[in-house]
Parts: sequence; C-alpha cells; structure tokens
Amino acid sequence: MGRWFPMDWFVRDFDHPLYFEIYKDKEQEAFEEGPALAALLALPEGSLVLDLPCGWGRLQPALEHKGYRVVGGDLSPLNLQRHRVEFPGTLARLDFRSLPFKNACADGVFCAYTSWGYFATDQENLKQLQEFARVLRPDGVLLLDLTGRGEVEHNAAAVGSGWYLAEEGYRERVRWSSDGRRILAERILAGERFRHDIWLPEDHEVRAFLQAAGFDLERAFGGLDGRPWEAGVERWIYRAIRRPA
Ligand SMILES: C[S@@+](CC[C@H](N)C(=O)[O-])C[C@H]1O[C@@H](n2cnc3c(N)ncnc32)[C@H](O)[C@@H]1O
Repeated sequence: MGRWFPMDWFVRDFDHPLYFEIYKDKEQEAFEEGPALAALLALPEGSLVLDLPCGWGRLQPALEHKGYRVVGGDLSPLNLQRHRVEFPGTLARLDFRSLPFKNACADGVFCAYTSWGYFATDQENLKQLQEFARVLRPDGVLLLDLTGRGEVEHNAAAVGSGWYLAEEGYRERVRWSSDGRRILAERILAGERFRHDIWLPEDHEVRAFLQAAGFDLERAFGGLDGRPWEAGVERWIYRAIRRPA
C-alpha cells in the first residue's frame, strides 16, 4: 500500500477561480510593480527572461516593455489559461523543483511576489533556487522579490489577532507557525477555505540559500524604488548573479 500524501496547499490555493478575487488588487498593483521590478532586473534588451512563476501574466507586459524575450512558467493550469487569454506568450506548466528548461539557457529568472518558501522542507526550497541557477547562463541574473519578514513582524494588527474581515471582503486569519518560521494565512470567501503556508526566511537565511544554490548576491533592495535593504522594510528584493561553474 502506498503512503497517502495530502495535497500541497499551493497546488489548490492558486488554482481556484476565487484566487483571482482574493488577489484582485494585484491587477492594479502590476502597473507599479511591473516596471519597477523589470528595471531592477536590469538586463540588456533582447535578454531571455524566465518569469517563474508567471501566475496569470500580470507582470509580463512590463518585462516585454523593457525589451526582454519572456517565457512564463507556472504550476496552476487556471493561471496559465487566464495568461493565454489576457497576455498571450510562450508558456509552460511546471514545478519549481524540476524545470523543463535546458542548462544555462536563460539570461534572467524573474521570481516576483513572494514565490519562494512554499515547500515544507529546506531541501525543496533550496532545490527551487538550484533549479533557477541551473537554467541561468553563468553571470545570468535572478531577481527574487519577497515579502519582508520584518514588515510582517511589525504588522501586529493583522498577525495573530484572530479572524477579521479584510477590506477585500473575505474573512482572514494570519498567524505564525509554532516555530515562528512560517506564516499561515487562512481565508474564507464564498464558503471556500484557503490556507497559505509560507516560509518567511530571515535576511541571512535568504543570503545563505542563494549562496548555497550557486549565486553571488550583488544587491539587496528594500523597495521598488531600489532603495538599499534594511531591517523592517516591506519588500526584500535580491539581485543575485549565477556563479560561473
Ligand atoms: C503569489 S503568485 C505570484 C505570481 C506572479 N509572479 C505574480 O507576481 O503575479 C504565486 C504563483 O506561484 C505558482 N506556484 C505555486 N507553487 C508552484 C510550484 N511548485 N511550481 C511552480 N509554480 C508554483 C502559483 O500557481 C501562483 O501562480
């Protein structure tokens, strides 16, 4: 008898029509985030950039506007379906842990909006970065855009306060896991429950994982405007260079 594994939260939570309702504000935010993040990636025109994960493609126009050639990849069929309709392009269904791309094929990997730390183990989260390194050419660039742990820690009103009604119309409860490493965000909308379970690393852990995966950190930014990283800032954006083998 095979062992039964429950479905990983990220397989279902993002692949649901109500996900688009919960994250509706990200459509508008793309107009600010896209150009800013594409500029921080800072590659020459014509560079091949893998948008991993691409979601429904909200940041693709900004990447293309910078002159990048973009290939998107995501696990969620529903996101990819919406992407094909709203932002046609070259797309692949994939899992971060085993990318369907050749070694050293890309100039950039663009990983926006806290799309790292989803896996339950350090090995798998490291594997995601190792896969990013594998598909990048030597000196290729990874832009890793994360929610700052310090910001969540300071946002005491939302974290650990029990259920509340979010402005967007869903009920929400946000807590730290018992070991304090992961953030658990539960949401209820139209009778459906969603539960994100994301490792929010310390800054030194992000740096150590990047190093271990084969990257040299070039810059850490603390905001879309490219200000330097400092403790407590909302956004942690790492620009890392794939070390030549
Ligand atoms: C927060 S969204 C960010 C999407 C996009 N970067 C953006 O800014 O709109 C996270 C995305 O990661 C995708 N995802 C989750 N787990 C994944 C996995 N194991 N492999 C590939 N994609 C995954 C989800 O389907 C979802 O589209």
